[in-house]
Amino acid sequence: MSICTPFNCNGHTLQLSKTHSIKRVFTSHLISKFQVTTVPYAIPLPSVYLSEPIKFSGKRFNLVTASATPTVETPKISFRTKNPKDINVLVVGSTGYIGKFVVKELVKRGFNVIAIAREKSGIRGKNSKEETLGLLSGANACFSDVTNLESLDKSIENLGISIDVVVSCLASRSGGVKDSWLIDYEATKNSLVAGRKFGASHFVLLSAICVQKPLLEFQRAKLKFESELIEEANNDENFTYSIVRPTAFFKSLAGQVELVKDGKPYVMFGDGKLCSCKPISEPDLASFIADCVLSEELINKILPIGGPGDALTPLEQGEMLFRLVGKEPKFLKVPIQIMDFAIGVLDFLVKVFPSLEDAAEFGKIGRYYAAESMLVWDPETGEYDAESTPSYGKDTLEEFFKRVLEEGMTGQELGEQMIF
Ligand SMILES: NC(=O)c1ccc[n+]([C@@H]2O[C@H](COP(=O)([O-])OP(=O)(O)OC[C@H]3O[C@@H](n4cnc5c(N)ncnc54)[C@H](OP(=O)(O)O)[C@@H]3O)[C@@H](O)[C@H]2O)c1
Repeated sequence: MSICTPFNCNGHTLQLSKTHSIKRVFTSHLISKFQVTTVPYAIPLPSVYLSEPIKFSGKRFNLVTASATPTVETPKISFRTKNPKDINVLVVGSTGYIGKFVVKELVKRGFNVIAIAREKSGIRGKNSKEETLGLLSGANACFSDVTNLESLDKSIENLGISIDVVVSCLASRSGGVKDSWLIDYEATKNSLVAGRKFGASHFVLLSAICVQKPLLEFQRAKLKFESELIEEANNDENFTYSIVRPTAFFKSLAGQVELVKDGKPYVMFGDGKLCSCKPISEPDLASFIADCVLSEELINKILPIGGPGDALTPLEQGEMLFRLVGKEPKFLKVPIQIMDFAIGVLDFLVKVFPSLEDAAEFGKIGRYYAAESMLVWDPETGEYDAESTPSYGKDTLEEFFKRVLEEGMTGQELGEQMIF
């Protein structure tokens, strides 16, 4: 049973339950401006590990095949010159909140999409095989295990196709320590290794803007993969990447909509201005990710990306909600020190009870999003910079809040323990 203590931590709402679940929530604004800039970051580059030498099986296949037998070492023709229907895009994490939209967008753009999925997909495996197939309609669904390289290799080989591009929307559904390393690093790495083996020369990674200030395990896991991906491109001029680091998703900001509608106060940390974000919708982010498949301007770059409009603090998000429900604003301000105290206690307990490792990590995640903005970090000023955080797309948080108020949270369900 949930305790249901929602804290709005300056852009993120946390709900602590007996199972230590933490829901974080962000917010943002509207605008019709379309603007993309890129901010390359210097990242340490450990050498990449490929479990086997890159090779292509050479086997010819039934589905769409490369126009010439591809060799990873020296692809003669860039896939970018081909017609989208002849470009094979492997999507891992295809059943996630963003992955589903990426599959849909790539299919819409005419690519030949191979969507790797689990037979029971979704939060706690709630989608049956049939429902999963339905989610991936228009793509070639391929059931496999991304956590097992051998199995992933075999599955791709059985499809009988070469791969041009890998798009990863994989993410740990819990944010727990071991699961983060298993999914955000190992499984994502498996998709690189397997993709390369079958000819991929471009990799689009859905990462997160918060890895700029890595204090959490899932951020470290993501950064390790990012650095190895960059190293892979450094070692092979025919291989490219696009690392997409979005700000907050709409789902992460929706946690208090129904509470406010029911007359509850909007809960936030400090004065409600400790952090800001520029949230982006699933279709807008999927469109940006799809742009990364072909656009030469987006290759070999780290791409922070937010939605349209100005950055919003939790206070502004709360004010927007009260305006939409037509009620007098009512805020509950929670001192951020409460989080520090809780983390201190959990850190102590985890030394005695190592099984509390994830609970302690969830506490740190909550603290992180209570105080850190989801905006580009300027190392020179030591501050987050809304102006340098690119905007993309057209969907606004205000429209999203209106929709949730009218239609509820369907499709915006948060993850398992800790919610991303
Ligand atoms: N929430 C935010 O505000 C925010 C902001 C910026 C960036 N991000 C980042 O965006 C990324 C994607 O987020 P999301 O919300 O789309 O993720 P999500 O809904 O949790 O989806 C995760 C995907 O990974 C797959 N996956 C997880 N564990 C797996 C396992 N053990 N084996 C096989 N597949 C597994 C899931 O498959 P199943 O469906 O089978 O479980 C699903 O397809 C994350 O890296 C996150 O950090 C989030």
